[in-house]
Amino acid sequence: MLKGLIFDLDGVLTNSAKFHLGAWNNLAKELGIDLTADQLDGLRGLSRMDSLELILKDGGQETKYSEAEKEKFAAEKNEKFLEQVETMTPDDILPGIPELLADAKAQGLKMAIASASKNAPKILNKLGIMGEFDAIVDPASLSKGKPDPEIYVKAQELLGFEADEVISFEDAAAGVAAIKAAKQFAVGIGSATLLKDADYLVATTADLKLAEIEAAFNKK
Ligand code: G6P
Ligand code: MG
Repeated sequence: MLKGLIFDLDGVLTNSAKFHLGAWNNLAKELGIDLTADQLDGLRGLSRMDSLELILKDGGQETKYSEAEKEKFAAEKNEKFLEQVETMTPDDILPGIPELLADAKAQGLKMAIASASKNAPKILNKLGIMGEFDAIVDPASLSKGKPDPEIYVKAQELLGFEADEVISFEDAAAGVAAIKAAKQFAVGIGSATLLKDADYLVATTADLKLAEIEAAFNKK
C-alpha cells in the first residue's frame, strides 16, 4: 500500500536545475570546456564535486588541477548558484506540484526530500514549502551520491516505510537509477530517452496526477 512520496528537489519541485546547469556551463566555459547539451543533462542529480569532476573529464582536464583549485572552482559555482537562489519565490514552484502535494496531504501520505543539494533547506524555505515535508535527507550524511541508492533508502527509512510503500520522483537519469537500485517505484519527469528506466514517465511536472500515478503503482 502506498504510504509516502519521496522527491528530488532541483528539476522536480522547482526549476533550480537550470540555475545549476547554467552556473556549471559558465564555469566550464571559463576553463575552456564546451559542454554539449547531453553532457550538461548528464550533470543532473550529481553532487557538487561529482559534477565538477565529470566536467573536467569531459574537457580532458581530469588531472590538470589540484584538490584546492577544484574546491575553489566548486565554491565559485556555488556562489553564482546562490545568487540565483536569492531571487526565488513561491512562484518558482513548478506547475502541478502544489496540487500534487495537496492531494498527497489530503490522502495522509508522508513526504520526504532526497536531494543531493546542500542548499535544499534554503531553497525549500525560499519556495515556502519547507513545512510540507516530514523528512529531508542530509546529503552530508551520505557516503555515496546518486546513482547509488543510499539517498533514497535513507529517505524511505526516515519516513519509516518499506521500498514497496513509496513512490519517488526524479528528473535525472542518475536519480532514476538510484530509485530503481533502492527497489522503489520511479516516476521520471523529462526526456523519455534519458529516463527510460522509470516505471512511470511524464514530460513535465504539469502532467503529474497523483490518482493516475497511484493506479500505475498499484498495478506493479
Ligand atoms: C542536486 C542537483 C545537482 C547539484 C547537486 C548538489 O542534485 O540536481 O545539479 O549538483 O544537487 O547541489 P549543491 O547545491 O550542494 O551544489
Ligand atoms: Mg534533479
